[in-house]
Amino acid sequence: MTNKRLGLPLEYKKLPEFFDAHNIGDDTELKNSVIEKSLKKHGIKTVLDLTCGTGSQVLFLAKKGYEVVGSDFSPDLLKIARKKAKEAKLNLRFIDGDMRTIKVGKFDAAITMFNAIGHLTKSGFEKAIKNIGSNLKDGGIYVFDIFNLEALSDEVVSNFSMYKHKKVGDTQLHSVQCSTIDRKNGFLTSYDHHILQKKAEEPTRINNKFSLQIYSAKELKEMLARCGFKIIEQYDIDGSKFLTKKSISILTIAQKIGKNER
Ligand SMILES: C[S@@+](CC[C@H](N)C(=O)[O-])C[C@H]1O[C@@H](n2cnc3c(N)ncnc32)[C@H](O)[C@@H]1O
Repeated sequence: MTNKRLGLPLEYKKLPEFFDAHNIGDDTELKNSVIEKSLKKHGIKTVLDLTCGTGSQVLFLAKKGYEVVGSDFSPDLLKIARKKAKEAKLNLRFIDGDMRTIKVGKFDAAITMFNAIGHLTKSGFEKAIKNIGSNLKDGGIYVFDIFNLEALSDEVVSNFSMYKHKKVGDTQLHSVQCSTIDRKNGFLTSYDHHILQKKAEEPTRINNKFSLQIYSAKELKEMLARCGFKIIEQYDIDGSKFLTKKSISILTIAQKIGKNER
C-alpha cells in the first residue's frame, strides 16, 4: 500500500482544532513519563521529536529540562504547538518537515510517539529510520512505539471501537470509530464517522478511513538492523515488560550503531 492509500486521521490536517480532543487523554502524562524515564536512564540531554503534533512530548520534556526540538509534517498542528509553548513561556523550536527527509542536527535521542510510524509504508519507515540515524550522534537512541501485530487478535481489535464526544469552542464533535485488521499485510484499518455541530446549525457528517502499518517485534528488529540500529530495550507502552503475544504496543529503544561497530 502506498503512503497515500494508508490515509490519515482527519485531525492531522483537516480538523487540527480537534487533534488534542482525540489524541490527548488521561493516560498521556503516564505515557510521556515512561518515555522520559528511558531518556533519563540513557543520560539523554538533547531530543528531536520528529512527529511532535501539538507538542505533547516536546513540552513535557522541555519542562523536565531537556533541550528539545519538535518537527511534524502538519503546519496546523505545529501552529498549536507553538501557541502552547508561548503560553507556557518556553522558548521552543518547531519545524515543518517529513520524518523521512528532515535534517535538523545531531541529537542524543530521537522520538516518534504514539503509532506515528504506522502512517508510513514499510519502505517509508526504512527511509525514516535511516534519516533518523542521520539526525543522531553515534550511539544515540531512537524511541518509538507501534501496535504489536502479534497481540491484536480479532477480540482485541473489536475492543478498539470507541465513541467520543468533545466540545471545542462552540462546536460539538461526536465521533465513532471501529477498526478491522488485515493480519497478513499488517494493516490496522479504522473507520471514523464524525458529526460536527456548531450551535443550533444543521450537523455536518464526515466519514474517514485510514490504515496503520503495524509490525511484530521480530520484523522491527530486522528492519532496524538493516538501517543501522540495534534494539536495546522493549516495553509495553505503559512501561511494563514486553510480552511478544500479549503486549498491545511495542515501545522500542534502539541504538544507532557507530561506524566503528559495523
Ligand atoms: C498520533 S500523532 C502523535 C503526535 C504526538 N507525538 C502526540 O503524542 O500527541 C502522529 C503524528 O505524526 C505526524 N506524522 C505522520 N506522518 C508524518 C510524517 N511522514 N512526517 C512527519 N510527521 C508525520 C502527524 O502529523 C501527527 O502529528
